[in-house]
Amino acid sequence: MYRDYYCGETNEKMIGEVIELSGWVNKRRDHGGLLFIDLRDRSGLIQVVFDPEKLSEFDIPWNQIRSEWVIQVKGLIQLRPKGTENLNLSTGKIELLAQEYTVLNISKTLPFELSDYKEETDEYIRLKYRYLDLRRADKYQVLKLRHNVVKYIRDYLDEEGFLEVETPILIKSTPEGARDFVVPSRNNIGQFYALPQSPQQLKQLLMVSGVDKYFQIVKCFRDEDPRADRQPEFTQLDLEMSFVTQEDVLDLTEKMFTGLVQSVTPSKSINSPFERLTYDLSMELYGSDKPDLRFEMKIKDFTNQSKSNQFKVLADTVENGGVVKGLVVPNGNNYSRKQIDSLVEYVKALGGSGLIWIVLEDDPKSDSPGFGFKSIVKKYLDSDFVKNIGKLSDANNGDMILLVAGENKKTLEILGNLRNKLGKDLNLYDKNDLKFCFITDFPLFEWDEERSKWTSSHHPFTMPHDEYISDLKNDPSSIRAYCYDLVANGSEIASGSIRIHKKELQEEVFSILGYSKKETNELFSQLLNSFEYGAPPHGGIAPGIDRIVMLLTGTDNIRDVIAFPKTQSGFDPLFESPSNLTADQLKELGITVEKPLNKMN
Ligand code: AMO
Repeated sequence: MYRDYYCGETNEKMIGEVIELSGWVNKRRDHGGLLFIDLRDRSGLIQVVFDPEKLSEFDIPWNQIRSEWVIQVKGLIQLRPKGTENLNLSTGKIELLAQEYTVLNISKTLPFELSDYKEETDEYIRLKYRYLDLRRADKYQVLKLRHNVVKYIRDYLDEEGFLEVETPILIKSTPEGARDFVVPSRNNIGQFYALPQSPQQLKQLLMVSGVDKYFQIVKCFRDEDPRADRQPEFTQLDLEMSFVTQEDVLDLTEKMFTGLVQSVTPSKSINSPFERLTYDLSMELYGSDKPDLRFEMKIKDFTNQSKSNQFKVLADTVENGGVVKGLVVPNGNNYSRKQIDSLVEYVKALGGSGLIWIVLEDDPKSDSPGFGFKSIVKKYLDSDFVKNIGKLSDANNGDMILLVAGENKKTLEILGNLRNKLGKDLNLYDKNDLKFCFITDFPLFEWDEERSKWTSSHHPFTMPHDEYISDLKNDPSSIRAYCYDLVANGSEIASGSIRIHKKELQEEVFSILGYSKKETNELFSQLLNSFEYGAPPHGGIAPGIDRIVMLLTGTDNIRDVIAFPKTQSGFDPLFESPSNLTADQLKELGITVEKPLNKMN
């Protein structure tokens, strides 16, 4: 009734056909008594020409039609006159000569331009009018890509024998590191459901049930501060398999991601096989458990060379148990003093005590005596030391060595951040490159200084390596686990592990984490009880769908890949939520709010 084709599907083969199209008025141009309209729908645009001589009378005169009105047009597809073609448009050689039209709906002037869209349009306004923002072609392409990603995954896992199973959204707190969003229960005043931070325990229970291979494209909820790559509500591909080793899970993940990229974004290049790094090595070489492997620039250790150095800052650091580590910036002699100073400031902002820079003016591999270099602390530095660290780090004449001295963990963290910044600033990678790696053998526990207790570095259901099982309590910090992340281009895409499937071991982990027997029982009895009825060995992984789409579209902003996202402060400007409940609703739930209620919007 409304249309024969999508606007963007029209083509030269249809010349001479009379067809009907419906869509939005993207742009209008009056030209010597003629009206030209770009008619838009999700597939693209076509030019429509309104020639008053060829139109009968209508309720709304053709020249009153405005941008973003919704119209239906019947007309003749014809070639555009020579010289007026638009080769940037797939339909740019043709136009629709209108014969009849119906105005299906009119529109107010939009709060922001769609056709001349500029990224600078305030994001809050775009989120408030998200339904308009999503009219833009590039936004539609993201939604479509997201659809293709999820479809590929569903088809792939179906082929591999996985079963998609839905798990409840109203459940009980499942501690996974963040705060829970809670939902009050009207029938049980004073009691609350929690929204799942992930279906972790539920998928493990499905393994006890014998489902064997489970997956779900599932919403997860975490009450934590949003970041550029975090939303309080996000989507995971959650999957779990029985009778598998870590190798089986990684193998499936690698094959699925390789196929996904080749099918959904074939113009991207992807490494094969995915690199593997242990957590310890990744921290040592890249100062991060999310290394961006699109560029080399590994962290170098100069601690040995800095012992009893004539430069006291270095010698004292090593004397006090610290380290001296650094990076080599290729052709760093191109940096201006201002640029170098901004690197020093960057390091200080990260909590570092300073950054020592040395620009090499000789080749460290040459045998010639003496060694030329520039540095603000040149008078403290011995030229043999500089030559030595230059040689050790394979630096060349013209490169710049950046040194950070301090406590090992902090130093690595600073250098890791600095490395990412340099990679970006110096354009050290191609935006179309995807470099995946698995980070394995994470520590099972981390010491939480603030709360003076052990916490799980991933989650409490992770299986420790066999050699630690007999004596977990001895030195919890040394325990490594069958726990892995999938990382691409410096961002964490997925996390997973082989799980504990024996009750006693799981209880011991909870006890190291500081849960009393009573708390363990209250929070985890459903899982622990199930382990008493023949739980199979199992493991899995959960990639973030939002993160995958971010990676494939090359955006740093998670809000770009979600149809209706929340702002950085967790607010939804479109529905204006969170919002107040009415006094009646609160009463029914037995809830009194400490702060006086704001007037309802
Ligand atoms: P984890 O908490 O590491 O593991 O989450 C897995 C993946 O989910 C994505 N992700 C997020 N994406 C957007 N916003 C967030 N706030 C957010 N939090 C996490 C990331 C991350 O890698 N149950 C375990 C998985 C398992 O062990 O199988 C879990 O949820 O891409």
